[in-house]
Amino acid sequence: MILRATHVSKVYHLDGEEVKALDDISLSIDKGEFVSIIGPSGSGKSTLMHIIGLLDSPSSGEVLLEGQDVTKLSEKSLAKLRNQHIGFVFQQFNLLPRTSALENVELPMYYGGVDAQERQQKAIEMLNLVGLSERMDHWPNQLSGGQQQRVAIARSLVMNPAIVLADEPTGNLDSKTGQEILRLFHQLHDQGHTIVLVTHDGNIAAQAKRQIRISDGKIEK
Ligand SMILES: Nc1ncnc2c1ncn2[C@@H]1O[C@H](COP(=O)(O)OP(=O)(O)OP(=O)(O)O)[C@@H](O)[C@H]1O
Ligand SMILES: [Mg+2]
Repeated sequence: MILRATHVSKVYHLDGEEVKALDDISLSIDKGEFVSIIGPSGSGKSTLMHIIGLLDSPSSGEVLLEGQDVTKLSEKSLAKLRNQHIGFVFQQFNLLPRTSALENVELPMYYGGVDAQERQQKAIEMLNLVGLSERMDHWPNQLSGGQQQRVAIARSLVMNPAIVLADEPTGNLDSKTGQEILRLFHQLHDQGHTIVLVTHDGNIAAQAKRQIRISDGKIEK
């Protein structure tokens, strides 16, 4: 098992009001799984992804990453765990502007202390894997949306993470390009990667091997 969340709740405090975004969520994800988290807008999907991705902490409950309780770790330790074990892909691609595709992909390795030569070698390898070998020197604004998402996917993989979390990765793409990106996730899954795909779209969620449905911050049984 790579990841386990037990009795996770998240309450946001906003203008003196409490918003219960997650209400007693328990789930686990095994190595090599391709899981989708599906639910309507506002159901808590991104909140859940941020918590299992160690970007945010739960108000109560426990999160175990590869057996380690991460709930009480310092921000510094969490940043290190994220860098080494989790790859992120977002709807808005989140690439650094005026920075080449190659350098964007190298970035997690830079933070991870990988030496320059290995960084470049690995980044080239990953850009080849996602089919972007011809575009390595391009800046994000010189790439199409689908190409930018491929760069983001290459970046998510360079530290060889235990799990890749993708939040609406096709949300900013036309349907044909979205299908190409989904095919890439299938390819990565076939190669042994563990993938969690967050979406509000039932057709996309259905492509995963297992679906976790959430509504109003709860898992539907
Ligand atoms: N920082 C925040 N402060 C207060 N409330 C928040 C915050 N972030 C999210 N929420 C609330 O928590 C609930 C869940 O939000 P979340 O972003 O997890 O939903 P989602 O399922 O990802 O929706 P979408 O499909 O629109 O992305 C919503 O009611 C939202 O308004
Ligand atoms: Mg969301």
